[in-house]
Amino acid sequence: MKKISIRRIFSLILIVFVIGGVLYINSPRYIIKRTVMWYERDFTIPVFCKKVRFEYDRKTGNYTGKFKISEHQSEKIIEKLDYCKERGLKVKGIRKGYNGLLNEDIIDLTPTETADTIFRGGTILFTARCEEFKTEEGQKRGAEICKAHGIDGLVVIGGDGSFQGAKKLAALGINTIAVPGTIDLDIACTEYTIGFDTAVNTAMEAIDKIRDTSTSHERCSIVEVMGRGAGYIALWCGMATGAEDILIPESFDGNLPKVEQQIIEHLLRNRAKGKTHHMVINAEGVGHSYSMAKRIESATGIETRATILGHMQRGGSPTAKDRVYASMMGAYAVDLLCAGKTNRVVGYQNGRFMDMDIDEGLAMTKDIDEYQLQIAHLLGK
Ligand code: F6P
Repeated sequence: MKKISIRRIFSLILIVFVIGGVLYINSPRYIIKRTVMWYERDFTIPVFCKKVRFEYDRKTGNYTGKFKISEHQSEKIIEKLDYCKERGLKVKGIRKGYNGLLNEDIIDLTPTETADTIFRGGTILFTARCEEFKTEEGQKRGAEICKAHGIDGLVVIGGDGSFQGAKKLAALGINTIAVPGTIDLDIACTEYTIGFDTAVNTAMEAIDKIRDTSTSHERCSIVEVMGRGAGYIALWCGMATGAEDILIPESFDGNLPKVEQQIIEHLLRNRAKGKTHHMVINAEGVGHSYSMAKRIESATGIETRATILGHMQRGGSPTAKDRVYASMMGAYAVDLLCAGKTNRVVGYQNGRFMDMDIDEGLAMTKDIDEYQLQIAHLLGK
């Protein structure tokens, strides 16, 4: 048998590495990944098992690597970087949602415009309802405007209504990704929606303050939180503040006198036990907080006040969770667009960010977690 020399084995290993390295540089996944990061302009890329940093010279537009590479390798890399450059992402912002789209209220967004915004509440792009976009004509016009403005990928942030519009635009040929943004947490395909955490924490702080007065005056307090059709804010705030009663639309059968009677009996039982305050968290979807307070007061003789927190829950500096999760969801949406995906919704399930078809997401239904509700009631007893 012919003997293979050590030298030959080494050169064979080297060839495998070289081929592997070139294939890695050429892989489409790699290109997409780099394209997404294009904005940063400087790159670190693995070349033949070594990490090479390439720096972008803003004056000359050239790239310089701090590692000696062959001409062929450098050509390959420049080729890839040029490819990235061609696909360089430009970002535009559409102000006032679909309404702004139809009015062509479209602005360029650069890192300068978006700098210093992460800690701000509200939205720099504003928001508005749009009846026209619910019509087929409006949707077609929206898609044409996107094309005319060179928009080939759209990220729509909102709730179910916004997702319906996103689905229509996707069907009309605009690559569209939906991202769940609502304080109500009422989007079935995700366990997290942008804004919920901030709203709950804002309401919780306000309720803690109201509780101080309530305790000092030995009153019963009814605090109404947002959530016309969903009781997540009420449930979370109720648990987080140790409320005695939590009213949510999901378990409200419309029988207000029955609900009031239950609160009255609970309040009187607690007074008999020596508890000097009673906090009721009421969701907007159940409502009637002021009249409820009057009736409870006249039935018990215990001073009862109602506070409606209202729009304060939709403002204020976002919590760390909202800042981080929103950033992750935004990046995920861009990744999907760069991979050529459309009609997808980004979600958060079982501890991971994920995506699914918008139609599939819209068809899902969501129920309040029965166990959480039970525990909340148990803790308030
Ligand atoms: O959907 C979010 C939400 O804050 C609901 O909780 C609330 O019912 C609704 O918006 C209020 O909307 P508007 O400010 O338009 O009255």
